Amino acid sequence: MAACIFVLFLLSVIVGLIYLYLSWNFNFWKKRGVKGPKPKLIFGSIPSIVKRNRNLAFDMRDLYEKYKKSGERFIGIFMTRNPQILVVNPDLAREILVTNFKCFRDNEPALWVNNNVEEVAPRNPFMSGSAKWKGIRSEVIGGLSPSRVKLAHPIVMEICKKLINFVRASSEKSGKVIELKNLCHRYTTEVVADFVWGLNADTLKIDDSPNHMYNMFKQMLEKSFLKISFYYLTGLAPLLRTIIGGSFYPEETDKFFTKIQKDAVELRLQSKNDRPDFLNYLIQLQEKKNISHMDMVGHSLTVLLDAFETTGSVMAHTLYYLASNQTAQNKLRAEIMGSLDENGGLSYENLIELPYLDQCLHETIRIVTLISVTSRICSEETYLEVREDHKVKIEPGMIVHVPTYSFHNDPDVFPNPEEYIPERFDNGRAKELNQKGYFFPFGDGPRICVGMRLGQLESKAGIVEILKNFHLTKIGDLVPHIDPSSFILGLAGDLLVEFEPIQH
Ligand code: HEM
Repeated sequence: MAACIFVLFLLSVIVGLIYLYLSWNFNFWKKRGVKGPKPKLIFGSIPSIVKRNRNLAFDMRDLYEKYKKSGERFIGIFMTRNPQILVVNPDLAREILVTNFKCFRDNEPALWVNNNVEEVAPRNPFMSGSAKWKGIRSEVIGGLSPSRVKLAHPIVMEICKKLINFVRASSEKSGKVIELKNLCHRYTTEVVADFVWGLNADTLKIDDSPNHMYNMFKQMLEKSFLKISFYYLTGLAPLLRTIIGGSFYPEETDKFFTKIQKDAVELRLQSKNDRPDFLNYLIQLQEKKNISHMDMVGHSLTVLLDAFETTGSVMAHTLYYLASNQTAQNKLRAEIMGSLDENGGLSYENLIELPYLDQCLHETIRIVTLISVTSRICSEETYLEVREDHKVKIEPGMIVHVPTYSFHNDPDVFPNPEEYIPERFDNGRAKELNQKGYFFPFGDGPRICVGMRLGQLESKAGIVEILKNFHLTKIGDLVPHIDPSSFILGLAGDLLVEFEPIQH
């Protein structure tokens, strides 16, 4: 009996201690006079990061909608048990990303990677801490300058020819209905392998055998999405991140791409070919700055992953929305056909500047904001005004979330936000909404996307060539839902579209 009582006592002490550990900080924001939702034990204020039933973007949007008119510029939330900030005011969003960048230099994704065990992932500017970020970013960005991206235009156009031939061959073999995510990711794999290494990835040929490069990309992404989930969950006990450890990218893919990089450099040096691509830039950079082989691998993978996944996703979703909206599709096709030169092509400048195409891309990124939240870490003590006459001291280490998806889908700014209406961006409104803090298709401030020009060239060229050659119709009435499991926001399930050839 005494033993039973002792065990019960011990259990209640343990439960009590766990309860205390999980909730002791719950008055953090109250003490500072900052409003916010009452946190729940274990789940905090953003339950979906534990429940995994929907994307965290939707929890954030619910809070944004609740508080955006409350007079608060930000609210205090808890990620599991950790106090953090959710911005609900567009001026403050710009303050964090642009005007007060000096105090918010670090990206939360720098905490996803394990600097002790891996070499490749921390070399991506998106995941690098402030000490190294500037140097890494400037090395990558040199290879993606406007003039270099312009020089990549012929490379991309060659791949577009393969894309159109692939769609024709695929229609003949298996019918006119094609799944867009698969198609666009095959295309972006081919573009990046060619632009980054001068290699043919062989993803745009009718062949049922698995494609090694494509599978490696997928494997890399799947593992990294798992690591992101692990990061959020271990907010309950961050020590587990050190104990369990593990790398962000799988070791196997790091090895695979390190070898490809080495072979590509050797091949290029032997051939003395000075094709104006990313590899050419890296070889020049190595000569100038003596960067290491791992630096070259890291920079290549930065371009590869984003130009593969993010860009492929933007392209697939744009084609899907156009296939669902015949008026927008016909309007865009008329714009394209009206701008072609005598050879039936478009110069780089004309392609990039097609106004309605730009609006369609913006509308896609708005509606399925791929990177749904931009999260910075306070790097220098500062004060943020939470409401008129009340400033709060923010200490280094505090994580601040700018819920981009919530701003992009605010019904007061974008009426009927779930509808695809590219005309929202008529008359240069994208720029105006960006200045007002409501629209950040590529992020903002010194950490703005380094690859936006390449991403736009790649996706615009592919979309133009497809619309020149095919009429698209969405198949079925299925209303796709947003994928809760992926870090990159996107419609879940297959995006099926019928490709009807246009007779010229
Ligand atoms: C259309 C496709 C793309 C979209 C919508 C997109 C969007 C974004 C967004 C929203 C950010 C966060 C910016 C911020 O924190 O303020 C970002 C960062 C970044 N993107 Fe992109 N991106 C795209 C294509 C690309 C491509 C093709 C590359 C590589 C060539 C790339 C490389 C990066 C890198 C390295 C960062 C981190 C920048 C830093 O923290 O300094 N992205 N992108």
